[in-house]
Amino acid sequence: MTAGEEATAMQIPKQGMKKDAVLEALESYRADDMPWREGRTFGYVFDAGREVEAVAKEAYTRFLSENALDPTVFPSLLRFENEVVAMARAHLGGDDDVVGAFTSGGTESIILAVKTARDFARATRPEVKRPQMILPVTAHAAFHKAAAYLDVEAVLVPVNPDTFRADVEAMRAAITPDTILLVASAPSYAHGVVDPVPELAEVARQHNLLFHVDACIGGFLLPYFKRLGAKFPDFDFSVEGVTSISMDLHKYAYCPKGASVLLHRSGKLRKHQIFACAAWSGYTVVNTTIQSSKSGGPLAAAWAVLNHVGDEGYEAIARGLKGAADTVVAGIQAMPDLRLLGRPDMSLVAFTSESVDPFVLADEMKARGWYIQAQLSQGNSPANIHLSINPSNVPWAEQLLVDLAASVEAARGAPKTDASGLAAMFTSGDVVLNDDTFGAILSMAGIDGVGLPGKMAEINQILDALPAAVRGELLKEYVNRLFVP
Ligand SMILES: Cc1ncc(COP(=O)(O)O)c(C=O)c1O
Repeated sequence: MTAGEEATAMQIPKQGMKKDAVLEALESYRADDMPWREGRTFGYVFDAGREVEAVAKEAYTRFLSENALDPTVFPSLLRFENEVVAMARAHLGGDDDVVGAFTSGGTESIILAVKTARDFARATRPEVKRPQMILPVTAHAAFHKAAAYLDVEAVLVPVNPDTFRADVEAMRAAITPDTILLVASAPSYAHGVVDPVPELAEVARQHNLLFHVDACIGGFLLPYFKRLGAKFPDFDFSVEGVTSISMDLHKYAYCPKGASVLLHRSGKLRKHQIFACAAWSGYTVVNTTIQSSKSGGPLAAAWAVLNHVGDEGYEAIARGLKGAADTVVAGIQAMPDLRLLGRPDMSLVAFTSESVDPFVLADEMKARGWYIQAQLSQGNSPANIHLSINPSNVPWAEQLLVDLAASVEAARGAPKTDASGLAAMFTSGDVVLNDDTFGAILSMAGIDGVGLPGKMAEINQILDALPAAVRGELLKEYVNRLFVP
């Protein structure tokens, strides 16, 4: 039986399994997981080593069963949250007026920032019937998700084609009477560059608009990079006009996943984040977050990790990251076949190649034991490779460059799937996605049935050739089949 067939056939066992047997079975399922502890995975897991992991896990399990649904029942969780938010706002230049909430991740923080803006507009500008938010095209996909969930229109604005930073005048020009929110990234995920936040804040102030800075990936690390001499635009509450900031703790603060903070300039704004319902027959519901019942584990672990690593510990880790990022950037710049996209402000690096296919390069690196991330072309950003450098990668920076050079040679002249015909069919509207067309596209990518493909180049080449909307539909079809039952 394949794993998919086994999954479909699974039933609750008549008799429960012994603890050891359960744990052994769990471990056996890991066989094909990415071996992130080895240090050659550039993304997904932000790992500060075994000691931090042990503290996090201990704290997490101690509060795993407590429910943050109701802070009056678990004052410990209320206290953790107030203290975590206080640390976050001090880190981001906030004064006593700045308030916030602990959320499950960047996406939840962003959805809640957009909800806050929408509900603030509903309360203060009832004439706005079709609210819009203005995003540089480099803003994270979570804003598109927020737009879809909350019925707020995402207005996309091109960025500078060389620096990949938001274009201030283009953002200004996109403002309409329905605009409720401007957005910037510090830094953007794809290219790792900080948008011109002070100039955009000035535009927001002139138009009396809310302005969210997505510092999910960089908010925690950037202040340390600044101390170590990095130069980039100010992005925090020291900039007048910034009204909210999202900052994930489960990225460069090395807390276990399920940890982010959303900060607002004032309690007057945060009020619009909160949902309350006393109009049903059960207990009264009042939540700062989308989740209602939720484990106290992530919050306790975040509190524990922040206090355990401490400011000096974080600065020491940041020093290693900065050194590794400088090495990787210089190495890529020295390779004639590779071209850096923008000048990264932190530890996120994107590069492309005109002589080899970046998607083939990613597969070649995978064959050599590395995980590096393929990014599709979008607007002025060509198909490229992204690296999120994390502490476990630091000792591997030089070897990464050696293997990149070898992978470039191996990728040279690799055949490329020609998906232009397919792309033309979709553009002309001739093709509808159904079982047959979906199957045909998969076989074009060399995939036999829906499974987890080993090589990704063909799939990425096909996706890259298609319009964004078709890419999205194709991905939905794929995932709808991947989760079998
Ligand atoms: C800039 C930025 N914003 C938002 C997110 C979304 O965060 P999450 O995956 O925690 O929902 C990410 C994730 O990498 C990010 O880099």
